[in-house]
Amino acid sequence: MRKIDIEDIKNSHIIPNTKVKREDVENAINHVLTQLDLNIAYFGTQFPSSATNKNVYSKIDNIEWTDGFYTGMLWLAYEYTNNPKYRDVAEQHVNSFYHRILHEIEVDHHDLGFLYSLSCVAAYKLTGSAIAKKAALLAADKLITRYQAKSKFIQAWGKLDSQDHHRFIIDCMLNIPLLYWASEVSGNNIYAEIANNHFETSLKYVIRDDASAYHTFYMDMLTGKPLKGVTRQGFSDDSSWARGQAWGIYGIALNYRYTKNEKCFHFYHAMTNYFINRLPKDCICYWDLIFNDGDNHFKDSSSAAIAICGINEMMRYLPETIEDKAKHLDAANSMLNSLIKHYLNQDVVAGGCVLLHGVYSWHSGKGLDEGNIWGDYFLFEALLRYIKDHEIYW
Ligand code: GLY
Repeated sequence: MRKIDIEDIKNSHIIPNTKVKREDVENAINHVLTQLDLNIAYFGTQFPSSATNKNVYSKIDNIEWTDGFYTGMLWLAYEYTNNPKYRDVAEQHVNSFYHRILHEIEVDHHDLGFLYSLSCVAAYKLTGSAIAKKAALLAADKLITRYQAKSKFIQAWGKLDSQDHHRFIIDCMLNIPLLYWASEVSGNNIYAEIANNHFETSLKYVIRDDASAYHTFYMDMLTGKPLKGVTRQGFSDDSSWARGQAWGIYGIALNYRYTKNEKCFHFYHAMTNYFINRLPKDCICYWDLIFNDGDNHFKDSSSAAIAICGINEMMRYLPETIEDKAKHLDAANSMLNSLIKHYLNQDVVAGGCVLLHGVYSWHSGKGLDEGNIWGDYFLFEALLRYIKDHEIYW
């Protein structure tokens, strides 16, 4: 098995035995629900844009890669409160997602896991909905059409017969759980086989020897051999985009959940230590991990929320023999305390975000120091994880 570097954790901002108070989590959830209630009235059958403008989302149709996060929040709200008002809207969304996949509307990319796990797999798990199951299986069928058999990966974007697009990205770690789920419910192992091949390719190439992640990685179409790592959303090709690192942490934990592949522990451990060592004073990372306090760059709160969920998920499985396990929990608790105390949007208005200070895409100037809908989703998922045995939708 490939071994990568596991740094010692040496971040003095992470205080041993940090706890999260149940009362703080409950208050934060109530805050999320207050915002969500306003947003349900505001968005009607539409969806929030991927990122905010001055912390307010605009209204969009079901055409973006991010639309599942809002539906996922409705399912989290339903799971927590049992109030049918959340389920009613979420079920309308499920119909919309069914329509989207049936008519192939903006589905020629790999983000079908983000879209369909949180909307339709969640619906199926919570309510047994037949249409949700059908939609999610159709999405899994579509996702495997992007599999490049020679190079053994699922292609992120673009035409499937072009070397310019022959690459996969670390984010896809969160798309492939849809495939493991599809194999479980259909009994057809092809989805899991493809997911597993993609996962193995990711462990080989998209994670560097120092345990940081490339954002994207190109393979040679003709030979199937690795070419090079290149960034799209990180600062540079050799920096570590914070959200990419967080996608890696959570993605590995979710892959372990399905595969029980013990190799996951090594990669998870190394990537998490790398992430923790680069947390600044308030424990919320900058948008790229090369930045720290004093560099005059933006935070990305969404990366923290994703990493908390990943660490929390892996806490269930990580052997006690991994000494850093307690430090990982301290870091997750510190991050959650910081998000609750300093990053919740107190300005509760129609269309508003929950979590402040995210970065969508620095190079294209999108969503800089703004809310984003996946940040809101992962914060809510993290909070629920701290309060109940949450039904994982991934
Ligand atoms: N998956 C795209 C992003 O994290 O911005």
